[in-house]
Amino acid sequence: MSTAISPTAYNYKVVRQFAIMTVVWGILGMGLGVFIASQLVWPELNFGLAWTSFGRLRPLHTNLVIFAFGGCALFATSYYVVQRTCQTRLISDSLAAFTFWGWQAVIVGAIITLPMGFTTTKEYAELEWPLAILLAIVWVTYGLVFFGTIVKRKTKHIYVGNWFYGAFIVVTAMLHIVNHASLPVSFFKSYSAYSGATDAMIQWWYGHNAVGFFLTTGFLGMMYYFVPKQAERPIYSYRLSIVHFWALITLYIWAGPHHLHYTALPDWAQSLGMAMSIILLAPSWGGMINGMMTLSGAWHKLRTDPILRFLVVSLAFYGMSTFEGPMMAIKTVNSLSHYTDWTIGHVHAGALGWVAMISIGAIYHMIPKLFGRTQMHSIALINTHFWLATIGTVLYIASMWVNGITQGLMWRAINDDGTLTYSFVEALQASHPGFIVRALGGAFFASGMLFMAYNVFRTVRASNPVEAEAATKIAVVGAH
Ligand code: HEM
Ligand code: HEM
Repeated sequence: MSTAISPTAYNYKVVRQFAIMTVVWGILGMGLGVFIASQLVWPELNFGLAWTSFGRLRPLHTNLVIFAFGGCALFATSYYVVQRTCQTRLISDSLAAFTFWGWQAVIVGAIITLPMGFTTTKEYAELEWPLAILLAIVWVTYGLVFFGTIVKRKTKHIYVGNWFYGAFIVVTAMLHIVNHASLPVSFFKSYSAYSGATDAMIQWWYGHNAVGFFLTTGFLGMMYYFVPKQAERPIYSYRLSIVHFWALITLYIWAGPHHLHYTALPDWAQSLGMAMSIILLAPSWGGMINGMMTLSGAWHKLRTDPILRFLVVSLAFYGMSTFEGPMMAIKTVNSLSHYTDWTIGHVHAGALGWVAMISIGAIYHMIPKLFGRTQMHSIALINTHFWLATIGTVLYIASMWVNGITQGLMWRAINDDGTLTYSFVEALQASHPGFIVRALGGAFFASGMLFMAYNVFRTVRASNPVEAEAATKIAVVGAH
């Protein structure tokens, strides 16, 4: 029997494909991030062309980093984790392959249509209806492969990481389908099925839970597998992980209105969103502490293991951004932070510090195992990458805090006669140094990804097909 279809071997082909594409899309998405950050420093870089303008490239950046980079990391790790913790092969190779090619097709579709200006105008849900339908089909197939594999598992219980991945898959499907309900008027134009404040509420119910379930719950699934594996310690508290899971998914879904403070949304809904966001601090920190404490007795490993450093520092940034978020959800704080770069700083504390760092750590952990090697080609290069990523993130978020608070205070400053103290352009001028530092921080972070690509390339090249095939053998129960 060919090993490619052997039920005693894991399907690593699809995991390898998604893992490699995580690095490729990471470079492109973050490279584009550096480019749009530079446009804010030197507006000439818009080149006077519609399709290279900031307004069109910004949504391409968000789609590439969230769905292409983050999405591929989630597909790769969830397929890896579900097979190893269930000790069984994915339920269907062809459906898994369909999710890979279908997902890449959606991304290529985004790269073509967004610069051309085709957009629903809903943030993080910009893709027009034909692509949105393809995405929905791919996603439902993903659900079938994932849950089908859980059903045919050889182990008795379902490891907690899979609970998080499972919730991320189910809720993302629900959000995407509900928020994309629309009336197509041509092949590239549709109108939302909702209107006015309802439309805004549905959009931010989607938008916030895209953060909560796509950028958080899925990555927590990653944390529950890769942190214990890399630290070679069991998770600190299994009981806490169960409380963490239920508390997180129960609370996140209510917090969306904090994106719509001081708008036409009914006041009670805004206050409810604020209260839920504050309570959300508890499960977020519960999870972060569970991850951190897993290192008890293994802290010394941080001195020599840069992969573990990526994972642990990602948890520190997760803790930081989930402390900052609830503070920003308080209406009086939000009246200062909203519309300013403070939000952008918060976003990237989560996006670079948490999402990207944990993904990078997980990919470094997986690549040698997927290709039958004992370790990555160069540990020193992982270390270089770690420092570039950490310094880059700190430069990014510190500059955005300074900019955000400066902008908020300058916009609200009022003279004795009631007129504004500063014009908008004056606040923009004051932001310019911060924009330069942010572009520099972004360049640090993105250049780290180039080191990663080289390191991955050398590791993959050193592997031979026999070793790579041997790596797919299903381990005995208890050894995942
Ligand atoms: C307890 C956890 C969190 C809470 C309560 C929270 C709260 C908030 C608040 C209040 C805003 C500003 C809304 C506005 O003024 O428009 C915001 C924006 C945002 N947050 Fe968080 N946050 C949390 C965690 C995170 C994490 C971990 C990430 C990333 C991985 C993240 C990503 C974002 C994004 C992308 C936005 C910008 C949305 C937009 O306007 O486009 N948040 N968050
Ligand atoms: C090298 C790294 C990166 C750079 C230089 C960068 C730069 C930027 C810039 C300049 C913006 C527009 C800010 C504005 O409108 O004022 C932006 C927005 C955004 N980026 Fe990034 N980015 C990077 C990586 C990432 C990653 C890895 C993610 C997610 C995993 C991400 C998620 C986002 C999101 C969600 C927004 C929209 C925020 C909002 O609307 O509030 N970025 N980025």
